[in-house]
Amino acid sequence: MSGETGEIAAPAQAGVTVQVPAKINLSLAVGPPRADGYHALATVYQAIDLFDRVSVVPAPPGEVTLELADDVHGEGGAVTPEDLAELPTDERNLAVRAARLLARRTGTAAGARLRLHKTIPVAGGMAGGSADAAAALVACNVLWRTRLGTRDLQRLAAELGSDVPFCLVGGTAVGSGQGERVAPAEGPGTYHWVVAITGGGLSTPGVYAQADRLRAGCAVPEPVVPAALTDALRAGDPKALGRALANDLQPAALSLRPDLADLLEQGKACGALGAVVSGSGPTCVFLAGDAEHARDVGAGLAGACRAVHLATGPVPGARVVQP
Ligand code: C5P
Repeated sequence: MSGETGEIAAPAQAGVTVQVPAKINLSLAVGPPRADGYHALATVYQAIDLFDRVSVVPAPPGEVTLELADDVHGEGGAVTPEDLAELPTDERNLAVRAARLLARRTGTAAGARLRLHKTIPVAGGMAGGSADAAAALVACNVLWRTRLGTRDLQRLAAELGSDVPFCLVGGTAVGSGQGERVAPAEGPGTYHWVVAITGGGLSTPGVYAQADRLRAGCAVPEPVVPAALTDALRAGDPKALGRALANDLQPAALSLRPDLADLLEQGKACGALGAVVSGSGPTCVFLAGDAEHARDVGAGLAGACRAVHLATGPVPGARVVQP
């Protein structure tokens, strides 16, 4: 019996920890609304070193639970206790849905207890929820020894959400379809970003709906990735990349959050090479020429938003790490 004197302690429960990055969109072209409510996209994603972690340990068969670690709130308050309080921990959480989907599709009876350390802003336009789903897929696939390969994981990821497949692969990638089809767009170099995290999230469906309202009656072209952007990436040229940053959701995000326009202007006035709303916002990202320049731009923005995070990209997608 355990606990008896001289008894060898039971080995610690095997656990798996996966680190997963936030994403930004270097360009995000959005087509007209489709009959299913989604929009065709042509986007370039980049994964940056602002990470969530999902740790999983075995649970009784069929049981998938999620708890939030409250000891990590992100650098300088990227995630507040109030943000965490808003996050569901039941099947409304995409990470729980990801684990359940993997169990269903592989037929495993195993269960898992998920613990989520958040530093990616909640409802910030950086795919935090999608990242957690990608991390849960990778972590449970290892924990349960279900051994799905990359392609099968990608298929499950696409069922969970448009950004989830990118969160698995990371790096820099072109996203098409509704964002779920990803192809690497690697180029040389590392980019230095200043991430300005503002209070109050924006609803992604709400921002898409607002974009549709703003563009009602306009001929919306099929979305494409701007050639200037792919050229800049191929050349590894931050100045050209800064000029090419683009986001079709930006006017909608700004109309819902007019304060973001000032933030973008302030970043440019601080010498950023480019400034753009990240995805559906409200997080804004600013490109700097190097690490020192990023610190300068970050210092210039410090009083203008809730938290400033200096990040580099590209970085790999969801990966098993030491806990
Ligand atoms: O795919 P995901 O669940 O992350 O999408 C969240 C919401 O964003 C969708 O419900 C939809 O309103 C909007 N969306 C869209 N077109 C896309 C991707 C997302 O309209 N390509």
